[in-house]
Amino acid sequence: MRSAEKGDFLALDLGGTNFRVLHVRVEEEAQKVLKMDSQICAIPQEMMLGTGEQLFDHIATCLGDFLESHNLKGQTLPLGFTFSFPCEQLEIDKSILIRWTKGFNCSGVEGKDVVQLLKEAIHRRGDYHIGSVAMVNDTVGTMMSCGYKDQSCEIGMIIGTGTNACYMEEIKNVKRIEGEDGRMCINTEWGGFGDDGCLDDILTEFDVEVDKTSINPGVHIFEKMISGMYLGEIVRLVLVKMTKDKLLFKGQISEALGTCGLFETKFISEIEEPDSGLENAKKILTELGLDWSLVDASVVRLVCDTISSRSAYLCAAALATLVNRIRNNRKLGHLKTTVGVDGTVYRKHPTSKLQKAVRLLAPQCDITFLVSEDGSGKGAAMVTAVAQRLKKSCSTMCTKASE
Ligand code: GLC
Repeated sequence: MRSAEKGDFLALDLGGTNFRVLHVRVEEEAQKVLKMDSQICAIPQEMMLGTGEQLFDHIATCLGDFLESHNLKGQTLPLGFTFSFPCEQLEIDKSILIRWTKGFNCSGVEGKDVVQLLKEAIHRRGDYHIGSVAMVNDTVGTMMSCGYKDQSCEIGMIIGTGTNACYMEEIKNVKRIEGEDGRMCINTEWGGFGDDGCLDDILTEFDVEVDKTSINPGVHIFEKMISGMYLGEIVRLVLVKMTKDKLLFKGQISEALGTCGLFETKFISEIEEPDSGLENAKKILTELGLDWSLVDASVVRLVCDTISSRSAYLCAAALATLVNRIRNNRKLGHLKTTVGVDGTVYRKHPTSKLQKAVRLLAPQCDITFLVSEDGSGKGAAMVTAVAQRLKKSCSTMCTKASE
């Protein structure tokens, strides 16, 4: 980091079940990005499916309330905007939403510049101002913030509500950019892998059903096999099938088990816990109104383990592809690299399966996993700081050139 990359920033983080506002201080001397304050705002389901204007007005209101309660309203702070959906990024502050994922489907946003929509919503309120904006995906924010701690971090991975990764690619391999030297961060949007049918052979009837009943059928197929938004539902469908086949719960499906979305993804990690898992399973099955036996509870544990292990192995395969690619790009016999990671599914589940599988699939790569704290928000603030410095140095150069 250089001298201009310091000061106070705001960060907005939109992409999971909640929306977060952060006040962040970048301290160059101490090599630190400090979270001063943060606030979580819920996004009600109706809003996730409402109009874009409603969504951005809600974001602008949450930001306004945050500024008010933290006495920041009079300041014009630069803002890092973590917007975690597939976008075509044209400039640091111009990014067109390609399509919604993860349960969002607000009208009038796809095909539009989301930074512009945010600015318009803030303008509609008219009671506060923001400085320059930089937009990043959560994978990029995570990689950036982990890179601050560990310079060899060149991959950012999220396994949360959705799943995705970014990595550093050689410029010479990026067709859209001219030039031979240097590297560029690529957001792979690996959640969309399989949308061309290439995963059809490994999709189960449960995956097909989850896709069919989702709000975006046919897209983000890989994500639907892996991430938190869908894992609970996959397990529920397996349990329903086994019950119908009279293999569980004496063939009796309770109302809750028969209802889409009522087997939550968090149940999986609770049921998988090494010590208290069986007890948790019993409690959860009772809460779901099921008449269970001890064998039923053990089978449910096995189903949870199978579905979460499959998620870990699929992620491992995708991650191994990235590290192998980086190693091949650089023609290295051996690559030592760090992956910045975030997301509730990664945090809440045992990570040893994923890590072992990556080692198996990328034996010439030595990978360190670094879990980020507030990574995407802090990372967005850092990108904003860098963008600001570049803008300043460019305008100084331009002024000097015209003198
Ligand atoms: C979804 C989004 C992607 C994001 C990921 C993790 O896959 O399309 O942009 O990075 O979720 O939040």
